[in-house]
Amino acid sequence: MIERVILTKEKAGEEGAIMKHIDSFSRAYLESYCTSTPATHDNIQEVFYIVSGEGVFKAGDEARRVTEGDGVIVPPGVPHFLKNELDEPLEFLILVESVEEGVGTLKEAVFRNYRESSIGQGHWNHLVHNLFVQDDGLVKLHSVLVVRMEAMQVADTHGHYAETDEVWYMMRGSGLHVVNREVCRQKPGDAVPVAPSSGHCLINDTDQPLQIFYFAHYER
Ligand SMILES: [Fe+2]
Repeated sequence: MIERVILTKEKAGEEGAIMKHIDSFSRAYLESYCTSTPATHDNIQEVFYIVSGEGVFKAGDEARRVTEGDGVIVPPGVPHFLKNELDEPLEFLILVESVEEGVGTLKEAVFRNYRESSIGQGHWNHLVHNLFVQDDGLVKLHSVLVVRMEAMQVADTHGHYAETDEVWYMMRGSGLHVVNREVCRQKPGDAVPVAPSSGHCLINDTDQPLQIFYFAHYER
């Protein structure tokens, strides 16, 4: 498994170590016909999301075929691995959240495709599917979403408090992300953390839809 860590939890002086609650966010690949090393984590819960390709995800006693749009929550203590049986790379994302002593967790993995949840609309033009919310067994994360924006659309500008983690990761398409007074071109593979901010908004200035993987811990 080739894993590239994009963002991690706050640590002075370390680039990309800016999250307040979530331990890490990575993009990962499994080359064709490769299998990841089986792993079991004691105090860590992982959330996987398949971006492209197809594979078999084994978690505990359950083995499921997974493909684009599928997510898996793997709670602590559940042995797991991912197997690519195709002649093309399997691309996926990994979120890691630490589980403190005494916090109750799921006993088995949860599998879901984001298309199983109904579509909602937010901030004018975000077309949102829940992948996982806290009731599904997330610990530090409050929501993991897949967001679509149609061509030539803009979201309304809004801000986020200091203790929030909110990250937008571009999967398909390209847009302009405005965070405070900074404007960046956000292309596939780019993650934009938007908290804290006095204002942020995403603009699709192209003639193609864009698709985002979103995760957040909200300040309560
Ligand atoms: Fe936001």
